[in-house]
Amino acid sequence: MNQQPILIAPSVLAADFGHMADAAQLVERSGGDWLHCDVMDGHFVPNLTFGPDMVRALRQATKLPLDVHLMIERADEYITAFIDAGADHITVHVEDAAKHDVARTLALIKARGKRAGLSLNPSTPAEKLLPYLPGLDQVLCMTVNPGFGGQLFMPAVLPKIRQIRDAANSLGLPLDITVDGGINFETGQLCVRAGANALVAGNFLFRHKTLNMTDAIRELRKHAENHD
Ligand code: DX5
Ligand code: ZN
Repeated sequence: MNQQPILIAPSVLAADFGHMADAAQLVERSGGDWLHCDVMDGHFVPNLTFGPDMVRALRQATKLPLDVHLMIERADEYITAFIDAGADHITVHVEDAAKHDVARTLALIKARGKRAGLSLNPSTPAEKLLPYLPGLDQVLCMTVNPGFGGQLFMPAVLPKIRQIRDAANSLGLPLDITVDGGINFETGQLCVRAGANALVAGNFLFRHKTLNMTDAIRELRKHAENHD
C-alpha cells in the first residue's frame, strides 16, 4: 500500500505549442500538481521540442512546480540554463551515464536547491539506477520509449516500479516515483499499485474526448487513489 499522496503532472508536450502559456494556466486552474516539460534534442531521442527559453516562458505563466524531463545527451551542460530559466525539478536519464558523471549532475541540481530526478527507459534495468537512489528526490520510469506522446503503455515496466519502490522503502527514502507514457485511468492504477505515486499524462489530459482538464485530473487522481 502506498501512503504517499498521488501527484498528477500534465505534460505540455500534448498542448497546443502556439498557446503554451494558456496551457500552463489551464493546468494550474484545473488542479494539476506539477507541469511536466519534455525537453528533447534529436539525439538522445528522435524528436525535438524546446529548451530553456520555453521553460522561462512557462515560468512566467504559472506558479506550479516545473518538472523538467531532459531527454538530451550531455544533460550536465544544460542544468544551469534550465535552473536559471525557472525549473524546479530536473530529471536526467541514466542511459546518458556513459557521456557524463550522473552523480555529479544530480549533485549540481541539489546544490542549486532543486529536486533531482533520474529516469530510465523501459528496457533499462533498475540495477542501473539503484546506486544513485540515496541522492534522488524522484525517479521517472518511462512506460513508453521516450520521444513521442500518444504511445501505448508498456506493462512490462510494472515489476521494475515495484523493485525501485521496495529498494527505496528499504533505505527509508520518501522517493517520488513518477511514470510517464500512455497513462490513463487503467494504466495509472496499475502503476500506483506497483508503487508509483506521480503520474505524468499528456494526451489523456490535454486531448480527452469527453472530459475537460479539471474532470480528467480529478478522475485520474481518484482512480489512482483507489488502486486496490
Ligand atoms: C514522452 C514524454 C512524455 C509524453 C507522454 O517521451 O516523456 O512525457 O508527454 O505523453 P502521453 O501521456 O501522451 O503518452
Ligand atoms: Zn516526459
